[in-house]
Amino acid sequence: MRGDVAVATGTDARALLRAGVGLRLPHLLEVAATRPPVAWFEIHPENFLANPHATEVLVMLASDYPVSVHTVGVSVGSAHGVDRAHLARVRDLVALINPVLVSGHLAWSTHAGEYLNDLLPLPYTAETLDVVSRHLDEVQAALKRPFVLENPSSYVGFAGSTMREPDFLNALAERTGCRLLCDVSNVYLSARNMGFDADEYLAAVDPRHVAEFHLGGFSAEPDEATPGGTLLVDTHGTVVDDGAWALYERALRCIGPRPTLIEWDNDVPAFDVLLAEAAKADAILEAFHPTTAHVAR
Ligand SMILES: [Fe+2]
Repeated sequence: MRGDVAVATGTDARALLRAGVGLRLPHLLEVAATRPPVAWFEIHPENFLANPHATEVLVMLASDYPVSVHTVGVSVGSAHGVDRAHLARVRDLVALINPVLVSGHLAWSTHAGEYLNDLLPLPYTAETLDVVSRHLDEVQAALKRPFVLENPSSYVGFAGSTMREPDFLNALAERTGCRLLCDVSNVYLSARNMGFDADEYLAAVDPRHVAEFHLGGFSAEPDEATPGGTLLVDTHGTVVDDGAWALYERALRCIGPRPTLIEWDNDVPAFDVLLAEAAKADAILEAFHPTTAHVAR
């Protein structure tokens, strides 16, 4: 199964080679009532775990749509270990809805029992590789499936890093069998903020490990560290930037077609706006039809 796009179920990978949208609570009842033509949905388990009614609706929708679970709370990068209580809750939800993918970030968000409500960066070193590999082994054993790990949006780097981010992600995938989620907007944003070449980054990602793409909106905000400078901030509160769309097309050329998610978490617009963004991604994806591209290796 390793190497296929659908990493966890018998779902036909090719049926998922379309754009999905993030299903957020403001749209849940509308989606349940109208059943819009969406190829698949991604949900954040954190929106559902303390909301039994929303979970009931989700279970119903999961029988009609492929659903991907994207957790923001497991914290595979925490030096003190993953949040096991949260992992157990995610595991139970995964068992309930049998999603097509389960993903999360290369980041840390807990420390010594404190939840920090942020996705914080890691130094890319051999030591971090050991720590995160151990945590991924634990997460994947609990979930009984590969975890799909997303590249972060970056604003600062560590002088002590000894590996490039894509090399670090490839190494994690090789060691643990995890898959990679390439957030193209994050690559674009991080390249601008950190001053690296986004295309070189994509060329360094091993396509065999990539199971999914993300595209989300970001905003330019004043950079307090550089007078007059701007920082791109991963707000997920607007349409996808033209530069990120162009990079997405180059990512498809470089990596191949993969299920692609439109992320929108803040200032959530009318559902039609998300459908329009998904249609835009589909129009680009169509040019990379699976009959002409390598989906599984
Ligand atoms: Fe993302």
